[in-house]
Amino acid sequence: MKRTKITVVGAGNVGGTTAQRIAERDYADVVLVDIVEGLPQGKALDILQSGPIYGYHTDLVGTNDYAATADSDIVVITSGVARKPGMSRDDLLRTNAEIVGSVTDQVVRYSPNAIIIVVANPLDAMTQLALKRSGFPRSRVFGQAGVLDSARFCTFIASELNVSVENVHAMVLGGHGDTMVPVSRYTTVAGIPVTELIPPARLREIEQRTADGGAEIVRHLKTGSAFYAPSAATVEMVDAVVLDKKKILPCCVMLQGEYGITGLCVGVPVKLGKDGVEEIVQLTLTPEEDAALKKSAAAVKELVDVIGV
Ligand code: 2OP
Repeated sequence: MKRTKITVVGAGNVGGTTAQRIAERDYADVVLVDIVEGLPQGKALDILQSGPIYGYHTDLVGTNDYAATADSDIVVITSGVARKPGMSRDDLLRTNAEIVGSVTDQVVRYSPNAIIIVVANPLDAMTQLALKRSGFPRSRVFGQAGVLDSARFCTFIASELNVSVENVHAMVLGGHGDTMVPVSRYTTVAGIPVTELIPPARLREIEQRTADGGAEIVRHLKTGSAFYAPSAATVEMVDAVVLDKKKILPCCVMLQGEYGITGLCVGVPVKLGKDGVEEIVQLTLTPEEDAALKKSAAAVKELVDVIGV
């Protein structure tokens, strides 16, 4: 029986950590590909050599040649430049559009049936680019961001209330940028709406810290952006597909009328399973939440218009 094959494009911090986390799952073989000679080879070998200690049997290959990625079931695109302090994700637009465009061409050439998970920033625009360039259906091209942003929201709420993060289920919608929409009304702690547990003014502060979550880490690191939580979020999505979990997660997906938005990739809850996005989950939003989502979608539209996708 053929093992699942997953390609991770980009052997930087996010790509390397994603490859490591997938290898540790022991449910798929991994190809790590990058244009920098030696980087994917070195990281793949290093991860491979953890197998005897961790007890996984993952076959891991590092390469500069996309031929080795042929017939991948899933391709995670992490490649592109990361932000530096003072930069927004949008500052990466033109550079990363060129990179993600050419990576997508290679994915289509070698793995025409793959599911593509986009992680490169600015996330929503890069997802839209990969979707359009690939010609794949929207069920097979979607982006990681809502899982990461929701994890940040969960972390801050758990810390505020001094409860286990396992009790917190959070929902963040919209684009992966300053206008993202943490939806407190759909965020619960052991089933209790968080709006009953944290006063509104404090909740607004936590929502704002969530929206600034990536920038807060960039300010600390100074030389790059977050990668532990982004890779963990990506692998939660990979798990949902490989294990056909039918898990409802906020992901960036092309909307075709859902939420009153058409022709734009934006973060909304979807059901993820073996076929990728198997359903788009429609939440009922208040007029304020709906306006915030539309504002976030408008910010994404500005970017996709610049790169013409
Ligand atoms: C973040 O929010 C890198 O976009 C990623 O940290």
